[in-house]
Amino acid sequence: DAAPLIDPFGRAVTYLRVSVTDRCDFRCVYCMSENMSFLPKKDILSLEELDRLCSAFVEKGVDRLRITGGEPLVRKNIMTLFRGLSRHLVSGQLKELTLTTNGSQLARHAAELADCGVRRVNVSVDTLDADKFHAITRWGHLDKVLEGIAAAKSAGLEVKLNAVALKDVNEHEIEHMIRWAHGEGHDLTLIETMPLGDIEGDRTDQYLPLSRVRADLMDKFTLVDIPYKTGGPARYVEVKETGGRLGFITPLTHNFCESCNRVRVTCTGTLYMCLGQEDAADLRAALRASEADDLLKLAIDEAISRKPKGHDFVIDRVRQAPSVKRHMSVTGG
Ligand code: GTP
Ligand code: 5AD
Ligand code: SF4
Repeated sequence: DAAPLIDPFGRAVTYLRVSVTDRCDFRCVYCMSENMSFLPKKDILSLEELDRLCSAFVEKGVDRLRITGGEPLVRKNIMTLFRGLSRHLVSGQLKELTLTTNGSQLARHAAELADCGVRRVNVSVDTLDADKFHAITRWGHLDKVLEGIAAAKSAGLEVKLNAVALKDVNEHEIEHMIRWAHGEGHDLTLIETMPLGDIEGDRTDQYLPLSRVRADLMDKFTLVDIPYKTGGPARYVEVKETGGRLGFITPLTHNFCESCNRVRVTCTGTLYMCLGQEDAADLRAALRASEADDLLKLAIDEAISRKPKGHDFVIDRVRQAPSVKRHMSVTGG
């Protein structure tokens, strides 16, 4: 059962994203609706089950593990999971253990994360304007997040900032965000909004193709393509004027599925082989059916054999419905 995970298109699956909760202390307008219903507690995997699940993937050749949510740091006792999974870093089977967070609780956890072997965190920050930040996140406070980022930096963690590019919202702030992030020594990645889950607003109105952002930025900066790779789908440039790295995640304008290396599992043990498809596999049943991991590993193999070629996200005015029904907060991006 130590055979590596290879999908029908010859892609090796080496990167697992694990959503440990679908809950969040923010309500970002592009991600969640005002009135969300969350998964019932009884369906949620325990921390022990999450550890077993992650470890089965590690034994199957996954060498990068990213903990996501919802907001992963609102899950009770989540540090127990990081502490446990850090054994795979020590054994050398895992190259990277990391997380994507909204930063609200990062100040409290940064030092312990670093102690667990986490080297890098991705923090979502769509704007540096406190009022705008509150408007986008509905419940969030920018100062808390900036505190979290500062704590991460003090703890020796590398920080990558994620900003979803939103027309008329942060569009005219991108230059400022680049200068700020790079001044602080952080990478910044811009993301195209993806049509997942029902939200109140119209995504079409806010969609900003990064091809256009990039062209506009070239009037202000010298952007040089660099081969820097993190395991994720971003393509990076160096901004000559700041010396910092800027990434572009472009599911809509420049599809990157051909080099996909990842799958994601939700906090109920549902494995999604693609962020942009509905097809899934129930790993919880396999996990709970037996103490041994044989069934679980078989279920993983079977699921990988169904990994689709790519997403079919479309953002268009006529077909207003999201391409994928579930919210981003369920699969963690
Ligand atoms: P690193 O490259 O390891 O830093 O992480 P990452 O960029 O893959 O992860 P992060 O959680 O920071 O995700 C940033 C954005 O990329 C989120 O909006 C994700 O939804 C998006 N993303 C990550 N992986 C995929 C993918 O396979 N497909 C699509 N369409 N989007 C993805
Ligand atoms: N499209 C693109 N990115 C999204 N995120 C959340 N919802 C969406 C969406 N619909 C981003 C968050 C976070 C990352 C995990 O996904 O801002 O940075
Ligand atoms: Fe929470 Fe992240 Fe969704 Fe914002 S994008 S509501 S921080 S899960």
